[in-house]
Amino acid sequence: MSGKIIDVECDFLVVGGGLAGLYAAVCASSLGRCVVVTKQTLVQSNSYWAQGGIAAAVDPEDSPVFHKEDTVTAGRGLCDSRAVQILVEEGRERVTDLINLGMKFDSDDSGLLLGLEGGHSKRRVLHAGGDSTGKEMIDFLISYVSSSESVTILELVTVTDIISDGERCYGVWGYDEGRESYVSIASPSTILATGGASALYRRTTNPEGASGEGISLAWRAGAEISDMEFVQFHPTVFSGKKGDAFLLTEAIRGEGAYLLNAWGTRFMERYSPLLELAPRDVVSKAIHSEMRSCGEDYVYLDLSHMDPEFVRKRFSTIERLCRDSGFDLTRDHIPVAPAAHYTIGGVRTGLMGETSIEGLYACGEVSNTGVHGANRLASNSLLECMVFAKRCVDGAAGGRNPGGAGGDFGGFMLADTREADAEFFNEARDAIIRGMSAYLGIVRERKGVERFITQLEEISSASEGVTGWFGFKLGTMLDVCLLVARAALLRKESRGAHMRSDYPEEDSGYEKHLVFRKGVEAYGDN
Ligand code: SIN
Repeated sequence: MSGKIIDVECDFLVVGGGLAGLYAAVCASSLGRCVVVTKQTLVQSNSYWAQGGIAAAVDPEDSPVFHKEDTVTAGRGLCDSRAVQILVEEGRERVTDLINLGMKFDSDDSGLLLGLEGGHSKRRVLHAGGDSTGKEMIDFLISYVSSSESVTILELVTVTDIISDGERCYGVWGYDEGRESYVSIASPSTILATGGASALYRRTTNPEGASGEGISLAWRAGAEISDMEFVQFHPTVFSGKKGDAFLLTEAIRGEGAYLLNAWGTRFMERYSPLLELAPRDVVSKAIHSEMRSCGEDYVYLDLSHMDPEFVRKRFSTIERLCRDSGFDLTRDHIPVAPAAHYTIGGVRTGLMGETSIEGLYACGEVSNTGVHGANRLASNSLLECMVFAKRCVDGAAGGRNPGGAGGDFGGFMLADTREADAEFFNEARDAIIRGMSAYLGIVRERKGVERFITQLEEISSASEGVTGWFGFKLGTMLDVCLLVARAALLRKESRGAHMRSDYPEEDSGYEKHLVFRKGVEAYGDN
């Protein structure tokens, strides 16, 4: 094995440096030594790019009861009611805690400015920096944890394996790119906060790093994974001629923007009485259908009837991005189309973020806490990150595991990467991304998914000799895509973010979660 080994020990190990990971570190910082590992730098997380904001029933006219109702309605029968109750009640507390720590959300003389988004019956979305909420929150948390003596941040460290005997987790193995060394991190509690997998699609709102590594790590360690068929597509992602794609937050429609089809006709009234503010699955499917009828691969977002001064101030980042692509957000029809946005499924957890492996916790997009059901309500994800990150830390602090050393290094040998494998890897990755987009997009059907599963199995057999970074990345992609594909095939109905053209109706027989565990046949669970 090339490269030396660095041994690290801590009380709380957090894998992932997005909002969930950083907030877990904030919570753990007063309880013990915390190490945060991230494969990139802290400013490259998916949370950093969140535009819309964080939903919380903080307005006197609002209540957690309404927030719960909206969340459960969007979730199409698959939300875990206890988890949603926790989300909406503790969510308010977490947002208040953050404000008390010094985080500034946008406000005016009358108080916090609250946005409206699809599926919400009230204005309840706090935002910061107009449309750069993720950046503002991440910058705030980075400065908080950087000043804490009990938190160590290890950037550019790729976690390659969970140290586990299948029953209990003892920490992780990884590779530190900066120091060209393997790392063994031993901890009684490991909190996965690695984000989702939407970068496995061609059109995506996510940065390249959102490739589902945490799901694959937990899967290989033997943890339960659930609800993987539910991939949420964001309805309005810029669709440039050169393939450029960036998010146009749902808050734009919350402020009154219209959706027009390629013929310039407003169409949402044919799909939902809530018009442009219907839940996300409804809007994405409507756009998909309009694109097919018009024979174009986009519809338009139209803000030309709105006050241009307001638009420029409230959506300054998007206004600049549009301008860079040759469009005036205040006047032009902006071409948009759905793109993969959020992995609803993931590592299955209980209410304290605990997974089926003792000592292993999960929070944020990598997890499946049950709050989103079959379709996530807009802006509930940053809230979920904070609520369940704290719960993971509380759960870990309450049930201290004895911990344990990693023993001989057992992780993937990332330093043993062979350039000779690059061509095979690039071709395989392109085929996987093409297949995800073609067969596991907004609308799926049996034959396509089966064909794709066969293709994934062939790639898997052909890649057996591929080692190092290429082998690790390919293994991750194959694990995650096979989980999505198998779940999509098993769910023979259409519900929330999962739409089957061969089973277009919702079927009450499928009001259950599809759960996968390595070596065991998939099972349904309520
Ligand atoms: C958006 O700003 O539209 C995205 C927010 C979210 O996905 O929750």
